[in-house]
Amino acid sequence: METVQKYAVEIQDLTVAYDTKPVLWDIDLKIPKGTLMAVVGPNGAGKTTLIKALLGLLKPVTGAVRFMEGDDGLKTLKKRIGYVPQSGSVDWDFPATVQDVVLMGCYGKLGWIRRPRKEDMELAKQMLAKVGMEEYASRQISQLSGGQQQRVFLARALAQEADVYFMDEPFKGVDAQTERAIVTLLKELKDQGKTVVVVHHDLQTVPDYFDWVTLINLRVVASGPVKEVFHEENLKKTYHSSATLLRSVG
Ligand SMILES: Nc1ncnc2c1ncn2[C@@H]1O[C@H](COP(=O)(O)OP(=O)(O)OP(=O)(O)O)[C@@H](O)[C@H]1O
Ligand SMILES: [Mg+2]
Repeated sequence: METVQKYAVEIQDLTVAYDTKPVLWDIDLKIPKGTLMAVVGPNGAGKTTLIKALLGLLKPVTGAVRFMEGDDGLKTLKKRIGYVPQSGSVDWDFPATVQDVVLMGCYGKLGWIRRPRKEDMELAKQMLAKVGMEEYASRQISQLSGGQQQRVFLARALAQEADVYFMDEPFKGVDAQTERAIVTLLKELKDQGKTVVVVHHDLQTVPDYFDWVTLINLRVVASGPVKEVFHEENLKKTYHSSATLLRSVG
């Protein structure tokens, strides 16, 4: 019997615009459950926009995004979505400690009104330990380095115990040791059957870190198993315009 592919997310005919200028065109994507997927493409390709649209933070011009669970129809999983934003995109003007930020992950599950329970505090502590930030729990988030903030965001997403994760360049600006720690975490999430979508710039490491890849540049150039779609021709199509641009500048 043919196995039915299970999708965590299905995107149909998605077009997203800022003001009236579309920056993502006719996106059709199916993200299989349990994949560790890289989203690659040049600067300005629409990667962050895609993630924001999937999270419902941006309203698409057309199209639909569906989150699914198992075989039993179209159960919405919106509450079970974890998000690690692109670093530098969050302005920490308000006072919040590292622990507060990680606890926000728990509140996502619990609702804002609820006070953190002992279990939540314990979970927050565990997740901070996982990213090597346990000692910083009472530090103001604004007083951390960029790489440290990135790790705290990751701990927050882990505390959410989501089914689907979206991470916007989690490796940006982190040192080699942190990068390895993050890779280990991503693989752990995958082993737990979670679906993880990661915006990634380092093409060299794609085959090593990910099993699935989506190449985008305003449109989807290709999406599928790394072994099948991550090849020179598709990369050329994806990076074509910026490569030409660089050549004409240089
Ligand atoms: N708030 C905004 N208002 C208007 N245009 C925007 C806005 N945010 C992004 N854009 C434009 O939309 C396009 C896609 O941007 P997006 O941030 O999604 O790119 P990206 O692929 O994430 O790039 P990067 O690799 O630099 O993070 C770009 O041309 C960008 O200038
Ligand atoms: Mg981006």
